[in-house]
Amino acid sequence: MIGSANGRRIGITGLGVHVPDRVFTNKDLEQFVDTTDEWIVERTGIRERRFARDDQALTDIARPAAVAALADAGVDAASVDLIIVATVTPDMMFPTSSAILADTLGMPDAAAYDLLAGCTGFMYGLAQAYGMLASGLSKRALVVGGDVLSKILDWTDRSTLVLFGDGAGAVVMEPVEQGGFLGFELGADGGGGENLWLPGSGSRHFANADKLAKMNGREVFKFATRVMVSSAENVLAECGRTVEDVDVYVPHQANKRIIDHAAGKLGFPAEKVVVNVDRYGNTSSGSIPLALADAAADGRLREGELVLMTGMGAGLTWGSALIEWTKGRAA
Ligand SMILES: CC(C)(COP(=O)(O)OP(=O)(O)OC[C@H]1O[C@@H](n2cnc3c(N)ncnc32)[C@H](O)[C@@H]1OP(=O)(O)O)[C@@H](O)C(=O)NCCC(=O)NCCS
Repeated sequence: MIGSANGRRIGITGLGVHVPDRVFTNKDLEQFVDTTDEWIVERTGIRERRFARDDQALTDIARPAAVAALADAGVDAASVDLIIVATVTPDMMFPTSSAILADTLGMPDAAAYDLLAGCTGFMYGLAQAYGMLASGLSKRALVVGGDVLSKILDWTDRSTLVLFGDGAGAVVMEPVEQGGFLGFELGADGGGGENLWLPGSGSRHFANADKLAKMNGREVFKFATRVMVSSAENVLAECGRTVEDVDVYVPHQANKRIIDHAAGKLGFPAEKVVVNVDRYGNTSSGSIPLALADAAADGRLREGELVLMTGMGAGLTWGSALIEWTKGRAA
């Protein structure tokens, strides 16, 4: 799916993130698997990640991010009429994590549902909320992206354990006076799904179904380097913009080598590329909002700037969004 925004202007007026307190360095992981700090840094760029405690589930991580996003926008939770939670690690299948958050945050008028699109979930959530807001169906939305992948990782598998971390982010979306979203591209290739999958997680009963994530790293790497470039190019072309027009590039934080490859192919200089995979690893649906928050914190997300976000992940899925950054809510 690809399209440029031609309706009402919809922007992000609030942003909040949260990561668990527990830091695991590469060295800390050496007690679980046969790995080294040197290997992890060289092959992935990751130095440390956060892992939730045993008693923490997704909504425990996502709630503080949502509260921070609402505070950043300066709006009451009760004014939100749509909450979408993009995650592959909900507290449970039902009640949904979005319904739990709508209740605990105080959103009695909100439609609430969870969205499954792997690490691309946050991009899918932005596009869905955009559609509902631009049509006037929703007046104010909260899009949450977050995962606690540590709960579905095989702590004996070095090829996956070292890559991922836990974290969440949230944005308030609503009509804005200027700027806002310019367009989206979203895609999926279920044919490659078995390269990153969780076979024991649903209604299909496999013999000896594994309840932990499995990945063919080399295949996912090839897929990632391809779609991170094509998706960005497609959304830019659709919106009549070029790489030179983009001020801030926010790629999914899976692996520094994938980010470097995409940025190099697209032609982004390092100062335009947001990178925090070294501190958080791959936080799945939390990755792009966490990177946006870092860009905001270091002063790179300024009013009027053009921001390109591209994600990819399980499904296999990919997605991009182009937004002219503004926090000026429509009157
Ligand atoms: C997983 C990934 C980092 C592996 O890097 P790579 O350079 O492709 O490494 P390879 O898979 O070729 O493995 C090289 C060797 O390192 C070993 N290895 C794998 N993980 C290791 C680890 N944590 N520590 C030490 N050695 C490791 C492998 O067993 C292999 O050993 P062998 O040559 O004896 O078989 C890389 O393929 C990748 O990032 N893929 C994309 C994953 C991803 O982003 N997934 C999420 C998408 S949202």
